[in-house]
Amino acid sequence: MKQINAVNDLLSFIQLIKQQNKTIGIVPTMGSLHSGHDSLIKRCKKENNITIVSVYVNPNQFNNKNDFLNYPRTLDADINRLKTLNCDILFSPSDKEISKILNPNFKLKLGNLNKYLEADNRPGHFEGVINIVAKLFEITSPNKAYFGEKDLQQLLIIKQLCLQKFKNIQVISCATVRNAGGLAKSSRNKHLTEKELIIARSIYKVLNEVKKNKLDWSVKKAKDYVRKYLNNLSINLDYFEIIEIEKFSFTQEINTNCNYYAMIAVTIRETRLIDNLKL
Ligand code: PAF
Repeated sequence: MKQINAVNDLLSFIQLIKQQNKTIGIVPTMGSLHSGHDSLIKRCKKENNITIVSVYVNPNQFNNKNDFLNYPRTLDADINRLKTLNCDILFSPSDKEISKILNPNFKLKLGNLNKYLEADNRPGHFEGVINIVAKLFEITSPNKAYFGEKDLQQLLIIKQLCLQKFKNIQVISCATVRNAGGLAKSSRNKHLTEKELIIARSIYKVLNEVKKNKLDWSVKKAKDYVRKYLNNLSINLDYFEIIEIEKFSFTQEINTNCNYYAMIAVTIRETRLIDNLKL
């Protein structure tokens, strides 16, 4: 595996790859890699000649300073993991290198995607994500880019980014990877104690309970159930909503003609976790 830190070195490498007519896949990450990332990287390797993994903890997408400062940074372990996975290129730029790439000069039409849930709870978050992902797309010109379904709203926004601004890039969504107890893999899980890791399983448990009862419960009943269940475990519910995915709109009732997702964000002590489940 080749580790590249400088934007100019990456640009020269990409030029060479393009001359050889090879396909490029990118897996953008903020490091602290886990088996969720492994699944994206393995799929990327299968579908492209060259796999680039970027590791960059993007300060602009954190709306909470402590969350940024405490975000796990494990570059040495990440390098070992990427070598084992036979990743071709690790791009791990500094802030200074990233600032050498021009800020994208466009505004996306995102409608509800930039209004509700994470957009509402984390002001500026998606602007930061769009900015860094667009910069990575700009300099790597990938054929395909890989993102996890755990961050469903981010995934849908990046699909829009490609539809509206990077038409040649195909966004590949990959299923959420969970541990044996059902907890979605996340770098932030590293902040949880053993006991909290067990408690956190109830996030997936309540999502499944809602799915099981989707035709019998009203949305209000589902919301009350989730709030009470998590409250009893001292899990702070930031939001639980059922959304219709095409319009990304809240719904008060479920009918069988549309696709719905249960979307949840919680805080356990100081760690914020999100998850979702297709109903
Ligand atoms: O999902 C993430 O890890 C980040 O939001 C991303 C897409 C790498 C942008 O910094």
